[in-house]
Amino acid sequence: MHIKELREDILGVHEKVETLNGVKDYIFFDNAASAPALKSVYEKMEDVSKYYSNVHRGAGYKAYFSTEAFDEAREIVSEFVGAGDGDTVIFVKNATEALNKLARILSDRFNGGKVIVSEMEHHSNILPWKKHFDVVWWPVNDEGKLELTTLENILKEEKDNIKVVSVTGASNVTGFVNPIHEIAKIAHKYNALISIDGAQFVPHAKMIMDNGNKDEKIDFLSFSAHKIYSPFGSGALIGDKNLLDVNEPECVGGGTILFVSKEETLWADFPEREEAGTPNIPGAINLALTLKRLNYFGMENLEKREHELSKYFLDKFNKLNDFKLLGKNREEHYFSVFSFTHKSLSPFLLASILSVEEGIGVRAGCFCAHPYLTTIMNFSKEKVEEIKKDMLEGKIEKFPGAVRASLSFYNTEEEIDRFINILEKIEKGEIDTSKYRYYKEYEAFFPENFKFKKPDIF
Ligand code: ALA
Repeated sequence: MHIKELREDILGVHEKVETLNGVKDYIFFDNAASAPALKSVYEKMEDVSKYYSNVHRGAGYKAYFSTEAFDEAREIVSEFVGAGDGDTVIFVKNATEALNKLARILSDRFNGGKVIVSEMEHHSNILPWKKHFDVVWWPVNDEGKLELTTLENILKEEKDNIKVVSVTGASNVTGFVNPIHEIAKIAHKYNALISIDGAQFVPHAKMIMDNGNKDEKIDFLSFSAHKIYSPFGSGALIGDKNLLDVNEPECVGGGTILFVSKEETLWADFPEREEAGTPNIPGAINLALTLKRLNYFGMENLEKREHELSKYFLDKFNKLNDFKLLGKNREEHYFSVFSFTHKSLSPFLLASILSVEEGIGVRAGCFCAHPYLTTIMNFSKEKVEEIKKDMLEGKIEKFPGAVRASLSFYNTEEEIDRFINILEKIEKGEIDTSKYRYYKEYEAFFPENFKFKKPDIF
């Protein structure tokens, strides 16, 4: 595998942007939010799209082409995540939709009950469970990590009352990776099902839902295509169809049935019964082509490269004095996601400085993981009340949090050097932060003489 070949396959990797200090090569360090598309796949989609038609409905060459391609895409996704024999792949629009669908289906199956959700979760793996179940929290430790003994103690205490353990494969804040198969084994021991939010795991490492050990099998996996270099509105919920089979599909309509009369409805089999309406056919095909391309490079190789970059990043970052990483003690098990704070500057101001002065894109805030941030940033009860009040009063600029740099295999050491260099400048007081002010219309800080202007594309 050649790193250069990888990088060249990223759409937009050579784009330049205007900064306060002249035109610069743009650095994208916000891959955990949404990752760029692959050029080779984009080009291929132009050919494929010439045969666009609806699936499982029409007659004619284009309908057969699209139907077969869509069905093959399902197989490719299934293989990519190492799904088991009884698993079905349901195409959805993203991990959020997958988790909502799953929580709703399982609440029908169990008629509510209790679900364990970890404190490390993204809101998309909290709110659907909160809506349909009673949530029992699995807290993180002082380092911001999850401990298996804590999970086992909760399951013991709850005496077989937990229906599901839903946990992320990796944190979108600290990049900490969870031992999903060990978690599955513990959940199963106490008769709970296991759901993995794979949004941040699947893009970084080889996912194997079924590793051949029944006890360790992942029952349900959710992930988004847009985080794995296919930002075209697709995603998947994968899981055992027997477990997903409840009285009625979660969303009903065209494509979900075998027959409808005025009196009764015969539901279709999986996965169609859970894909109401015309699906996102190009999105699913794009996702499958992307996964094939990633497989060509090898997920193990991509993981190794990201780890090299992470070590390089950390070596340099750890020499800074005014910046502090969230989450403690990074050993081998973390992905290339780093959230940090400055001793005094607002994370939103910091993110703006990176963008305006150096052309670097990151994310700032609490990363849709408020419970996790509240704990690992040690927000007091009073602080939480203050935040709530500011939010209700529309004072977005006062929102606390951190800056997140999330790297991908295609990023480079040179980009990390430029990133560290600007942090060093901030540390040395070489950036005049007083020239920045908050603009409500952009929800961002800008210097007086510099405003973002999008070229007209419409
Ligand atoms: N869930 C995405 C993130 O963590 C948007 O940034």
